Amino acid sequence: MLIGHDVIHGLHTVFPIPLAESCTWNPDLLERAARAAAIEASTVGIDWIFAPMIDIARDARWGRIAEGAGEDPCLGTAMALARVRGFQTDDLPVGHRIAACPKHYVGYGAAEAGRDYNSVELSERTLRDIYLPPFKAALAAGAGSVMSAFNEIAGVPGTCNTFLLRTVLRDEWGWNGVVVSDYNSIGELVQHGVAADLREAAKLSILAGVDLDMESGAYDQHLASLVRDGEVPVTLVDEAVRRVLQLKFSLGLFEHAEFDTTLAKNTLMAPEFQALALAVAQQSLVLLKNDEQVLPLTAGQQRIALIGPLANNRADLLGTWSMASQAYAVETVLHGLAQYDAQVIYEQGCSIEGDDLNLTAAVQAAEQADVVVLVVGESAAMSGEAHSRVYLGLPGSQPALFDALVATGKPLITVLMSGRPLVIPQIAQKSAALLVAWHGGIRAGQAVADVLFGAVNPSGKLTASFPRAEGQIPVFYAHKATGRPAEGAGTTQFFEPFRSTYLDESNAPLFAFGEGLSYSRFEYSDLAVLTPVVARDGVLQVTATVHNASNRAGAEVVQLYVRDLVGSVTRPVKELKGFQRITLAADEQQMVRFEIPVSELGFHGLDMQYRVEPGAFKVWIGPDSTDGLEGAFTVTA
Ligand code: BGC
Repeated sequence: MLIGHDVIHGLHTVFPIPLAESCTWNPDLLERAARAAAIEASTVGIDWIFAPMIDIARDARWGRIAEGAGEDPCLGTAMALARVRGFQTDDLPVGHRIAACPKHYVGYGAAEAGRDYNSVELSERTLRDIYLPPFKAALAAGAGSVMSAFNEIAGVPGTCNTFLLRTVLRDEWGWNGVVVSDYNSIGELVQHGVAADLREAAKLSILAGVDLDMESGAYDQHLASLVRDGEVPVTLVDEAVRRVLQLKFSLGLFEHAEFDTTLAKNTLMAPEFQALALAVAQQSLVLLKNDEQVLPLTAGQQRIALIGPLANNRADLLGTWSMASQAYAVETVLHGLAQYDAQVIYEQGCSIEGDDLNLTAAVQAAEQADVVVLVVGESAAMSGEAHSRVYLGLPGSQPALFDALVATGKPLITVLMSGRPLVIPQIAQKSAALLVAWHGGIRAGQAVADVLFGAVNPSGKLTASFPRAEGQIPVFYAHKATGRPAEGAGTTQFFEPFRSTYLDESNAPLFAFGEGLSYSRFEYSDLAVLTPVVARDGVLQVTATVHNASNRAGAEVVQLYVRDLVGSVTRPVKELKGFQRITLAADEQQMVRFEIPVSELGFHGLDMQYRVEPGAFKVWIGPDSTDGLEGAFTVTA
């Protein structure tokens, strides 16, 4: 038996949602988190994990943005690799090993209008440059299986897509693992309108290279007769069976049919896993605003009013995938704050989505306090699969609660919990501090309190841009220049304003990819491009100095971006190519050195072949995608 299950962000020990986890920019930590999840899963009999979800997502309307690592292929690839290594850990005894299943192959995150399961139109170039790299890397790292996606791309559903499943996966990448369909995605070929019935759907899928049918019954009911009638060569079925058997052998399932049921007792929710969940939650928090250093709070010095529907809420902190979790084990923000300050005045104020509102009590609580901590956002059920949204502001009565608290004039610290970037320009403007806490898992409350009181210095950085308005979506940092960029050289046609801009809003997101503040202040200096001229088979070497110009130790995620100035096809205005998470003591400085193989600076050209083109590049080392020290280099043939 090969038992598969969705273990997306932990099993019993629920970690922050993957989008939050990616904001740690800490692959080593996430590898350990994935390993903890794998160990828990293995002790309850799971052999196969339907994760990691490695779809690039640039549309916050799409509820499944919660499950991935955000908008960028370089960061997404690093996170995908960390998770595959963690799940398929060698630490587990034979018979308790786990196979990973990167999903959803491919382009699922590009659903039109951000509506789940919707059609996808992607050029082959964008597919190859942006959406395929995390899959290529995860499969090359030995992932035992991959899941074919629900969506079509340019008219061909992922589950009968011979180009993706045979040409790319088998012929180009030489990968030999198991392809499993998504849940009934073979059956859904009928609704897509490419198969007349389940029998034809089975035929299309096995011909395209899907080895296992999840839940549609198509293979079970029709494969034998398709072979008997000569419509499907038996060799294809043999091939699929061989792959599945190989996976089972590699997991040791034939040697160890007996299962040790005593393991789970000491493993599930083990203290070291809970400590790991706390570390991930702490590092996933992203501080986006901190006016006049209202944070960190000092225990016992201010009276705190803790308000909001997510302030003392257990279930919603668990996030979108938490099927085996125990809500009783969740620490809320109220629990967390109480450990620092027993005097906290708590009021819920309103529910997450309803129209109930208890303004009087909330305002009274605020008026008795020196500072307000408001915990608002989405419920767990508002993101995830089949949970797309078009309005990305705070739901229900929360905006009214926010406005009433602003009117009290008390400094307002907003903690935002959600499964996606929300559209919160007013919240950002009127809050004194803004901390993005996502759905942070069982240790979220403690982690938030640790950061609010400064026991932990925030270090998370965004991995998906926060739009200013829904109408900007998709908004992401690695966009193209266009022939009429918003800034720089314009057009000779008519007047200057004929540019690729909006009449009523800026092009820039409210908070961009890579952004996140610390209680420390990091200063960047002395960018040096050690290889101003570098060959295509060489290594780009760039250094910069980062100084912690504050009196507090802290961690900084140092980011390296490039721009290929002239290509045979247009190139993004910036592309992340490296990052390092460093820790600096107060007043410490460090020279950070990046060594990037030039082979990683390429793209798919006019002939759809991957290559690095000689020519001029810009390079930046900085704290986020909007800022940094700039240098230049030239790639030679
Ligand atoms: C989801 C997959 C999941 C599967 C099994 C599907 O609806 O798209 O991500 O692994 O169900 O639960």
